[in-house]
Amino acid sequence: MSKQLILALSKGRILEETLPLLADAGIEPAEDFGKSRKLLFDTNLPDVKLVVIRAVDVPTYVQLGAADVGVAGKDTLLEHGAEGLYEPLDLEISRCKLMTAGVVGAQPTHARRRVATKFVNVARRYYARQGIQAEVIKLYGAMELAPLMNLADEIVDIVDTGNTLRANGMEPRELIDEVSSRLVVNKASMTMKHDRLKPLIERLGRAVESRR
Ligand code: ATP
Ligand code: PRP
Ligand code: MG
Repeated sequence: MSKQLILALSKGRILEETLPLLADAGIEPAEDFGKSRKLLFDTNLPDVKLVVIRAVDVPTYVQLGAADVGVAGKDTLLEHGAEGLYEPLDLEISRCKLMTAGVVGAQPTHARRRVATKFVNVARRYYARQGIQAEVIKLYGAMELAPLMNLADEIVDIVDTGNTLRANGMEPRELIDEVSSRLVVNKASMTMKHDRLKPLIERLGRAVESRR
C-alpha cells in the first residue's frame, strides 16, 4: 500500500462545509473544483489527493480502500452500513434529521404502511423496531411527492428547515436519527498509514472544536 493519502469528499452541500475544515487541517485543493470537470484533484501536499464523488458513493470508496478517508453524512452511513470503516470524528457539519413524514392530518389507510424513501435499509429497520408492517418503496429523489400522488402513506427522508415538507402539504412525524457529516477511515489504512492519519484526524478535530 502506498503512503499516498486519498480523501473522498461528498460533492453537493457537504463539500462547501468540508473545504474550510480541510484548509484548517492544512489541506487545500490545488485548483478550484467549481471550474473543473475533473474528479481527481491534487492538493497543496504532494502525497494527498482528493476525489469528489456523489455522497452515496463515499462509503463504498473508503470501505473498499480506493480512498483512505472520506466525508459522509450519517444518513448515508446508516443506509450503507459501516463494515470496514472507522468513524473517528463527527465533523458537526450539514446537520439535519432523518424523519418519517406524511400528509398533514392524514392517517395511514393501509394495514401494511407504504413508505417511499431512498433510505430503504434505514426505513426497514425503523419500522421493524416499531413493530409496524411496512412496504418500503425505493425512490431516488423528490420523496415528498409520493404521498401526494398516493404512491405511499408516508416517507422517510432528510428534514432540515421543514420547508420542503410544508411546501407540499406535509408534516414531520417521528425522528429516526440526528444527522451530521462524519469522517470515515478505511480500517486497513488506519493501521498502515497511522502516522499520516493520526495528525490529520487530530487537526480536523481541533478545527471542529474551534467552530463550536
Ligand atoms: P445527489 O445530489 O447526488 O442526488 P444527495 O441528495 O444525497 O445526492 P446532497 O443533497 O448534497 O446530495 O446531500 C448530501 C448529504 O447532505 C446528505 O447525505 C445529508 O447528510 C446532508 N443533507 C441533505 N439534505 C440536507 C439538508 N436539507 N440540510 C442539511 N443537510 C442535508
Ligand atoms: C433535501 C432533502 C429534503 C430537503 C429537506 O433535498 O431530500 O427534500 O433537502 O430540507 P428542508 O427541510 O430544509 O426543506 P435536496 O435539496 O438535497 O434535493 P434532492 O432531492 O436533489 O436531494
Ligand atoms: Mg439532496
